[in-house]
Amino acid sequence: MKSITVKAPGRINLIGEHVDYNNGFVLPAAINKSAIVTISKRADQQIHLTAIDIPNELIIESFSDLVVQEKKWANYIIGVIAQFIKKEKFSSGFNLAFTSDVPIGAGLSSSAAIECAVAFALNELFSFGIDKMELAFMAQKAEHEFAGVQCGIMDQFASCFGKQNQVMLLDCATMEFQYFPLELNEYEIVLFDTGIKHALANSEYNTRRLECEAGIKIIQAKFPEVQSLRDATMLMLNEAFSETKNTKVYNRCKYVIAEIERTQLATQDLLKNNLPAFGAKMFATHFGLSTLYEVSCPELDLLVNSVQNNPHILGARMMGGGFGGCTINIIKRTEIQQVVNDLSTIYTSHTGKELKYYEVKIESGVQSIL
Ligand code: GLA
Repeated sequence: MKSITVKAPGRINLIGEHVDYNNGFVLPAAINKSAIVTISKRADQQIHLTAIDIPNELIIESFSDLVVQEKKWANYIIGVIAQFIKKEKFSSGFNLAFTSDVPIGAGLSSSAAIECAVAFALNELFSFGIDKMELAFMAQKAEHEFAGVQCGIMDQFASCFGKQNQVMLLDCATMEFQYFPLELNEYEIVLFDTGIKHALANSEYNTRRLECEAGIKIIQAKFPEVQSLRDATMLMLNEAFSETKNTKVYNRCKYVIAEIERTQLATQDLLKNNLPAFGAKMFATHFGLSTLYEVSCPELDLLVNSVQNNPHILGARMMGGGFGGCTINIIKRTEIQQVVNDLSTIYTSHTGKELKYYEVKIESGVQSIL
């Protein structure tokens, strides 16, 4: 039977962290690490799933058996199928196998890569005709409903809409976006991977969302026009919290309001090719994520603090949800090896762990490859 093979990438994010679910701006790009999914129709109504890398298999007897599974990998796929069921009718079952070279737990959106590859592949195989933006939202819903993470739209958007050598400025309030080339001259992006994903990452992520919502309510009491932290200013925040002692919620909002503004200014820096100014904002983002938003961890802080005064590194910060995963760094090409050597020594002596690193390239988003 006819089969379709689809590739969907992981992502980096240059700046604009933890603001997608606050209607802010993000600056992601798809990378040269992807999930690859092959699917073909079956003669019956069964769904056969194969995780090639583990390896592991799961057979689902019918479309009415789509429930959360113990096998974590299966939830990213079943979660997506469940979204199609809400609006489409499958004419048959299917076989689906996948592999991925997006490192898991590294903050590179390995789960969004699988979700988007599955969504795109099913849409093609069954000719549902759903547009790519809607597929991205369906992939996001899969994460909410089957993986239990109330993520924003950035990862699935980047995996769907990435373009080679282009970053995307996405306005998460309107979903309008624009591409522009990333011109780093003699610099390159290098990711350093802590090799750690702390167990509380998902629950803390969901807690941050709730804390932002709590903050919006407090601001709204004084400024009813504020619908999201995108609409709020520092002045409003300070006034709204003048009689409240909730420092934690205040700090969360303070970070988000600053980061939404910083991302817009940082984009201007990039467009003007002012890389030092851009890099300085990356460090500022890290500081906010670590001290106000509290989603960093000692390993990430170590990696960022160790490079802060290095003249060959323009900027560095933790990337993605946090509590482990990678830092993103802008490093002078000729100095990369030296930095890798020095940082590896520091990292291993402090943590006993080996430091992995990736020199990522910016690639296209989801597409059929066979
Ligand atoms: C995770 C989520 C995204 C985004 C980032 C933080 O990657 O999936 O939606 O919120 O964290 O910027």
